[in-house]
Amino acid sequence: MPRKRVAILISGRGSNMSALIDAPKERSYPAAVVLVVSNRPDEAGIETAQNDGIETAVVDHKKFKDRESFEQELQKVLEAHRIEIVCLAGFMRLLTPWIISRWDGRMINIHHALLPAFKGLDTHERAIAAGVKEHGATVHHVVPEMDSGPIIIQASVPVMKDDTPDALAKRVLAVEH
Ligand code: GAR
Repeated sequence: MPRKRVAILISGRGSNMSALIDAPKERSYPAAVVLVVSNRPDEAGIETAQNDGIETAVVDHKKFKDRESFEQELQKVLEAHRIEIVCLAGFMRLLTPWIISRWDGRMINIHHALLPAFKGLDTHERAIAAGVKEHGATVHHVVPEMDSGPIIIQASVPVMKDDTPDALAKRVLAVEH
């Protein structure tokens, strides 16, 4: 069976991207990462993907007058590469229903918290401040409401006494990968 053509969308260093690129190296894996797109031109993730021999594209949101024209270009790039599944891996732009509806059931996101707790940013700081004993990561389908689609899988880690956001982030990132 042909492997599903996967695109990864990033905004930064791309360590989750690397985990996704490494997973399908096994020949029987049903998906292959064929494209990495960043909305930021100078981030490490793009170079990492290039070194892995993956095609890359930059769609810099700052060059577009509004969200919709940015998303139209993004959609064009995804279609040009005949993408079937989109993975958001540290992608820091909110997408509108215009593009999300085009990927219904075929766009997933990784979030650094045990959803529905701690949607949005600064999740590790907020988890420590809330005094929760467990924190973690969630992979979920993307729907128009931020960090809210049906959950696919979660992994949890303990929050230690005297934890710092950095130490907790490291523990969470390991299970994200
Ligand atoms: C990850 O912790 C990911 O969960 C989070 O950003 C980090 C990206 O790291 N995602 C978001 O904040 C999405 N809104 P990476 O670039 O090394 O994969």
